[in-house]
Amino acid sequence: MISTGIQTAAYLFAGILFILSLGGLSSQESAKRGVLYGIIGMAIAIASVVLGAEVKGHIYIIIALSIASVIGIIVASKVEMTAMPQLVAILHSFVGLAAVLVGFGSYLDPHAAELTGAERAIHLVEVFAGVFIGAITFTGSVIAWGKLEGRIMSKALAYKGRHSVNITLVIISIVLGILFVKSPGTEALIELSIMTGIALFIGVMLVMAIGGADMPVVVSMLNSYSGWAAAAAGFMLGNDLLIVTGALVGSSGAILSIIMCEAMNRKFLSVIFGGFGNSSSSGSTKIEGEVTSASHIEVANMLKEARSVVIVPGYGMAVAKAQYPIYEMVQKLKAAGKEVRFGIHPVAGRLPGHMNVLLAEASVPYDIVLEMDEINDDLPETDLVMVIGANDIVNPSALEDEGSPIYGMPVIEVWRAKKVIVMKRSMAAGYAGIENPLFYKENTDMLYGDAKASVDELNKEL
Ligand code: TAP
Repeated sequence: MISTGIQTAAYLFAGILFILSLGGLSSQESAKRGVLYGIIGMAIAIASVVLGAEVKGHIYIIIALSIASVIGIIVASKVEMTAMPQLVAILHSFVGLAAVLVGFGSYLDPHAAELTGAERAIHLVEVFAGVFIGAITFTGSVIAWGKLEGRIMSKALAYKGRHSVNITLVIISIVLGILFVKSPGTEALIELSIMTGIALFIGVMLVMAIGGADMPVVVSMLNSYSGWAAAAAGFMLGNDLLIVTGALVGSSGAILSIIMCEAMNRKFLSVIFGGFGNSSSSGSTKIEGEVTSASHIEVANMLKEARSVVIVPGYGMAVAKAQYPIYEMVQKLKAAGKEVRFGIHPVAGRLPGHMNVLLAEASVPYDIVLEMDEINDDLPETDLVMVIGANDIVNPSALEDEGSPIYGMPVIEVWRAKKVIVMKRSMAAGYAGIENPLFYKENTDMLYGDAKASVDELNKEL
């Protein structure tokens, strides 16, 4: 057992480690160190809570922690990089569910019944708000998991008048909240339960209404919500560390959402309320031109002739695990004196920094990996662009077709290069579910097949 003084010091130390962890995660070079700080901080946090004087029944806690740790280790070591966003989404849902359970628990806690006056009112507001945020986070994250896992269609399911329905539901929840705070004892369990049902429904509807291309913002937004839900649980339990940690996650998630929105030229509020990406159309302009394809030998010859090559990877590179042969190809091309660089779109793949992580895994040096803004201006002077398993992030409709659900989103303007090769398995649409006029452009050739198998083939030819 540790004293309250030591516990407070441990909380403070863990809080500092969490801040250092976030700082470390802001650059690739320091990311590993950041993760390590996070692990140490979390170990200190858990130990100082479990060893705290107010905790009873250690044996149950140790059994629960051991089972959960084993499950966590198995799940995390088995998960594929491509399934990481789904895992993150489902973990957010646990935070939301925990906040709901903590809320009900603290409301029914006999000690809480001893509170009076303003103290009681504040406690009840914490419970109500915590359960509300937690329930939205829970179902919202489950739906996000379903969309990312491909179990629920990624297209937006938006119905007319949904904003009015959502606003009405929020107003009803506020009225229930007032009744809840005014009720004596634990008599308002029914108000709390009705509001929980409403919040669960709002969570489903909010995320269902958001289109595939806007999912990155949704994931980071749910990340932020899970932080606020944890902070709310911290208030309910009177745990300072949980409040600090929740606020760190909540605010960093909110900042990430805003950065994502800026990168995608979206208005934050419009994305959260499902205003964008919810058109059921797949673009209003009829696509003109013919699709042409090339063979592996032809593409290898183009690579041999090109002086400058830009590689634009997307989700398909992650699926195919093509990053290793791609780096092998880059080394061959560089050895032949060519300029080879990567162009990375901020939402390529399925999670922030997805492509950067994969390329780093294959030891691609950071200095040839450029951001979308850095590479776009150089494209007209580029001889050959290799689009590897990417689709939405190179779709010209985003700039040219006002009726397209992704209109306004900045993309990598690969079609401005002299020649474009698109490597994918078929003419299938990307995550946003829309057609891509790039495939029909005169300077584009398709190279069909699994990205890894195709790059292996090109390496042989090279
Ligand atoms: P997508 O638009 O999803 O396109 C990926 C393409 O890869 C598909 O069209 C698919 O075509 C191809 N592909 C799949 N497996 C392949 C394989 N084994 N070999 C070769 N090609 C393969 O990906 P993107 O261009 O990276 O864009 C990302 C999309 O996901 C955006 O809409 C973005 O908003 C959304 N999103 C992003 C995030 C984050 S945070 N990055 C999170 C959620 C959603 P075939 O089936 O024809 O092969």
